[in-house]
Amino acid sequence: MADAGMRQSSSAPEELVREVLHAFRARHPEAGAPKLFFAPGRVNLMGAHLDYSGGAVLPAAIDRGTLIAVAPRSDGKVLFSSSLQAGEHLFELDGLPQAATGSWVDYPLGVLREALSRAEERPGGASLHFGGNLPIGAGLSSSASICVGTALALDKVWGLGHQEIDHVHAALSAEREFVGVQCGIMDPYAVGLARAGSLLWLECGDVRYEHLPLDTSRVSILVADTMVRRELATSAFNQRVDECRRAFELLKRSQPEARCLAEVSMETLSACGEELGPVLSRRAGHVIAEVARTKVARVGLLAGQPEVLGAKMLEAHASLRGLYEVSCPELDRLVEVAGACDEVLGGRLTGAGFGGACVFLVERGGEERVSAELKQGFREAFDHDPEVAVFQAVGGPYELEI
Ligand code: GLA
Repeated sequence: MADAGMRQSSSAPEELVREVLHAFRARHPEAGAPKLFFAPGRVNLMGAHLDYSGGAVLPAAIDRGTLIAVAPRSDGKVLFSSSLQAGEHLFELDGLPQAATGSWVDYPLGVLREALSRAEERPGGASLHFGGNLPIGAGLSSSASICVGTALALDKVWGLGHQEIDHVHAALSAEREFVGVQCGIMDPYAVGLARAGSLLWLECGDVRYEHLPLDTSRVSILVADTMVRRELATSAFNQRVDECRRAFELLKRSQPEARCLAEVSMETLSACGEELGPVLSRRAGHVIAEVARTKVARVGLLAGQPEVLGAKMLEAHASLRGLYEVSCPELDRLVEVAGACDEVLGGRLTGAGFGGACVFLVERGGEERVSAELKQGFREAFDHDPEVAVFQAVGGPYELEI
């Protein structure tokens, strides 16, 4: 990531475009001119760990993401390669793997299977080369960026005539059914349906959404990546999903009209504490309070009071640390340092947690000072620097003119 305040890149910076085109042409000298697509990553500001419990979330797509060069083939094969990973992966359209392979290629492969299942005629094949500038494992949804981008690229190169919502569905099925992550719906929706300058208000239970403007003349989105990546992040995430499922199973006996954990009331939770036990009570306690916080944040945003959103982000972090137990000392340190900066309206860990990044809402003009404070405060406690950058809220995936 570039330093905060120093550079605010366009969605697909020129050097990245050049690098991906160069890599594609070097690998496929025989192919004609490729098409080029960009899909953003996303950062979630409110509604932490609510999507798989049916609550509302408030993410923005960001000006870092995945760039894909694609050209058609006529030999019935699809080839995936990446500037970020070694090796090439060649698949016969007639003999695609039935199970995930354990490599990065599972994401585009899962989308390829979805695209084929929705295609009216068997396509001839394609070569795709991936590049990008999104940190992997930072909680900024590199996987949804790859998946939604692949769905768009295959749609356009094969003329499938799909809509943007089809790309979102293909990405979600690929991750859930092929890769095997029990993820909620937030990431592909945030990436696929984003509008520039807006946050996406997405009610994950009913799958209703609207775009809420973020007043970027007053506030900036600043992200600080701890650079900490935890091996157990995926299994710990799946464990939280399972804990919420079990908590809801028990709670709905006392509140049968609730369709999901996000609809359970605090009164029901208080009455069922003993039955749930301490761990499930803490998980449900986070979810139910976060639902309320997220609604308040929305009202504040619509009333032109981003400081209300900021305050709720800080409360969310405390709950993610104490009740949901998905924070870590590095994330807590960033929030602590930011909390002492006057220009910071609020912030919290973003994504699944267990390492990764924090997102902060910062008053316009304060980005450089906050960035410097975060770096210094973090460095005093740990032996490396966080990466800090200002992100723009951008629109969804698109084809580049080349
Ligand atoms: C991960 C998942 C999302 C969401 C967040 C937590 O990033 O991919 O679906 O559950 O964690 O809010």
